[in-house]
Amino acid sequence: MIEKVIEGKVYTRGKILECCVGIERGRIVSLKRILDGEEKIKIRRGIILPAGIDIHVHFREPGYEYKEDFSTGSLSALYGGITCIADMPNTNPPTLDTISFKEKLSMAKRKSYVDFVLYIGVTESNVDKLDEISKLSNLLKIYLGESTGSLFLDSSNLEKLKEIEEKKLIVFHAEDRKCLDKNRFQARNLKEYAKSRPSACESIAIRKIMENLGGTNHRIHIAHISSLSGLKELEHRDDNTTIGITPHHLFFNIEQDLEEESLYKVNPPIRGRINQEGLIEAFLNKEIDILESDHAPHSLDEKEMSFEESPAGIPGVETMYPIMMYYFVKKNLPLSRLINAISEKPADLLGVNKGRIEEGRDADMVIFDLKNVKRIDDQDVHYKCGFTPFKGFKAIFPEKVFIRGEEAIDGEECLIEKGFGKYLGEIR
Ligand code: DOR
Ligand code: ZN
Repeated sequence: MIEKVIEGKVYTRGKILECCVGIERGRIVSLKRILDGEEKIKIRRGIILPAGIDIHVHFREPGYEYKEDFSTGSLSALYGGITCIADMPNTNPPTLDTISFKEKLSMAKRKSYVDFVLYIGVTESNVDKLDEISKLSNLLKIYLGESTGSLFLDSSNLEKLKEIEEKKLIVFHAEDRKCLDKNRFQARNLKEYAKSRPSACESIAIRKIMENLGGTNHRIHIAHISSLSGLKELEHRDDNTTIGITPHHLFFNIEQDLEEESLYKVNPPIRGRINQEGLIEAFLNKEIDILESDHAPHSLDEKEMSFEESPAGIPGVETMYPIMMYYFVKKNLPLSRLINAISEKPADLLGVNKGRIEEGRDADMVIFDLKNVKRIDDQDVHYKCGFTPFKGFKAIFPEKVFIRGEEAIDGEECLIEKGFGKYLGEIR
């Protein structure tokens, strides 16, 4: 008999079917109308969907544990229906070489609640050691302009990236440094901040990336697109290039009345309403491929400093799936679009055996009761920083979360220990 069976309304291959998911050793082994199991869980209320995967988080460890650490970050992810994350390299020390990578890896193995992979950064300091760093991870992160953490690669070095093996994923923070330098001034509010990092800087960076790497077989991901002009540069891209967007660029604009503006200070910045509404449309019609939170927490003390001093970054790993779920249900949009952007495509990009409720995949699933809508408050999130800029948003949080067949979240309760999360990368 099958080890474990979960029965209910299951989203599989584009449809919601009343069926049983058979699970052995954490993997889905069977999907059938009727299945017997040693343990059987019947879900009477709600739908069973693939868990989310967040390809872009900053869990801040090592070095900035007062902002977040791998346990608090990954526990927050889990409560938000995310069972796999990819962590960014702008920690302290930054993840740029074998020692820093292995140290982060051993820490994360001890502390993560969710499965994970790790980016290695490519900067001026290690771009001539692509062989060494490529052995560490299949995921490379490159900042073309300075942002929080000051990792940086000059665009004149883009050419060198052609040497990278084609199976690697190269993720870009696309803001061009020269353009940022030219426009820089001391912004005192969100509108000024958007002017000080104009969308032209995004378009220029994307143009340079495509000039150097477009048409090669490299897998390129443009992280957190923030402008329609940036998107336009990618109009004729091929299947090797993907585009991500964050919930904050989808839902905030500088014409809104946002209180405590520094909470929304982020790179690339929140822009005007025309951009924001255009990006929503582009996301819904699949011009934008992927949702990513760019979870970038800072302490409330830091964020409450003056606008000028406040560091850029917005937390969001826990609210991404719940906010998007509510948005799709309220607008009666096809769930297939959301699941493709939050589970299927991210799994494909990271190369992890998750993201779909199908035989052979990890049994990573979330249960949403679409009637259980709540308004988000700061108490609801498990971040170390203790606040969310999405306060007041309506959302549908998961009732239960399963990771590799294990019930990990049941309502308010977490049923697994830290360290449950597995590293899904390979070190050669
Ligand atoms: O606003 C941002 N914050 N943008 C980034 O690129 C980095 C991030 C952070 O790490 O705080
Ligand atoms: Zn980021």
